[in-house]
Amino acid sequence: MRRKRIGILTGGGDCPGLNAVIRAVVKASLFQHNFEVLGILDGYAGLVENRTLPLTEAMVSEILPKGGTILGTSNTADPFRYAENDADGKLKVSDRSRDALAVIKKLELEGLLIVGGDGTQSIALKLSQLGVPIIGIPKTIDNDLDCTDVTFGFDSALAIATEAVDRLHTTGESHKRAMVLEVMGRYTGWIALRSGMSGGADVILIPEIPYDVQKIRDSIQARIARGKRFSLIVVAEGAKPLGGDVVIQQTIPGSPDPIRLGGIGHVVAHQIQQCTGIESRVTVLGHLQRGGIPTTFDRWLATRFGVHAVALFAAGQCGRMVTLRGQRIESANLADAVRHPRRVNPTSEEVHAARAVGTCFGD
Ligand code: F6P
Repeated sequence: MRRKRIGILTGGGDCPGLNAVIRAVVKASLFQHNFEVLGILDGYAGLVENRTLPLTEAMVSEILPKGGTILGTSNTADPFRYAENDADGKLKVSDRSRDALAVIKKLELEGLLIVGGDGTQSIALKLSQLGVPIIGIPKTIDNDLDCTDVTFGFDSALAIATEAVDRLHTTGESHKRAMVLEVMGRYTGWIALRSGMSGGADVILIPEIPYDVQKIRDSIQARIARGKRFSLIVVAEGAKPLGGDVVIQQTIPGSPDPIRLGGIGHVVAHQIQQCTGIESRVTVLGHLQRGGIPTTFDRWLATRFGVHAVALFAAGQCGRMVTLRGQRIESANLADAVRHPRRVNPTSEEVHAARAVGTCFGD
């Protein structure tokens, strides 16, 4: 009898821990269930274009601590709105979901494990509504997927961002400057909040709490009055002023997520220098937050997620996404997971704790 065959793809922006999850899926499939695993290359692009890589035990050996993804990824490929250049080099967008379904049939895949953030999981939901048995595995440095306490990749990004705050602290103190660090996170402030709290930032600006530059000035001047002549400011890329809007770095035509945020750090640094007279410097951490080795926590979480995803498929529980709730690995309906992004609650205990140690949120 032919062994069951499942496919796995990694979609959206990469993050540390993707290889750990691929390894876990392949090993649990082979050792626990005797399933075959086919890797699909470059996210949904590989599914539409039938580009795959058979995954054996040898293929996943020694990839656990490696950053990136051995399968490649794409944050622009969407089978339902597939963007390609036509013969004249003009961008054309078409629905190629039928091609994706035909490839799944041709490859005799009995299920798909989809590793990704909200965009990737929203597409997974649409495929599952067309009858494809799907299990979602939540990854993103942004930590903005609902129904799970945390996504893997987030802890690694935090470790890098916190180290950056620590490093800016010493140089900022020497020169008595306002040091602004812009971090990623799209429309949520999880990376800014947690790295800012962990590095002792004086000001943390997040999309969930629009800021007033006069409040930032007051807090920096109050520090100066207390003898602290430098300040550390962590700004989420999606932060915005009261009544104002986000700063857009670039738009990508044809992409399901066409807006690339970025640039708010420079705006804030300029405003601080103008209103306090303190020399300001900006660091944009960018893709350093996504590269390199995963932390212990992310390897551990990715391994548990991967094993549970295969177990859910084996039990026929598709249309679900694996989750971490407290200490337990569980699962939620894919539809529930992608309905709303998970955002920082401005009245939460953790924001209160940050305020209690003197952090200014610009409000
Ligand atoms: O979603 C992950 C993320 O790194 C966001 O934090 C950021 O806004 C975006 O991806 C950057 O995307 P790209 O890799 O296309 O520049």
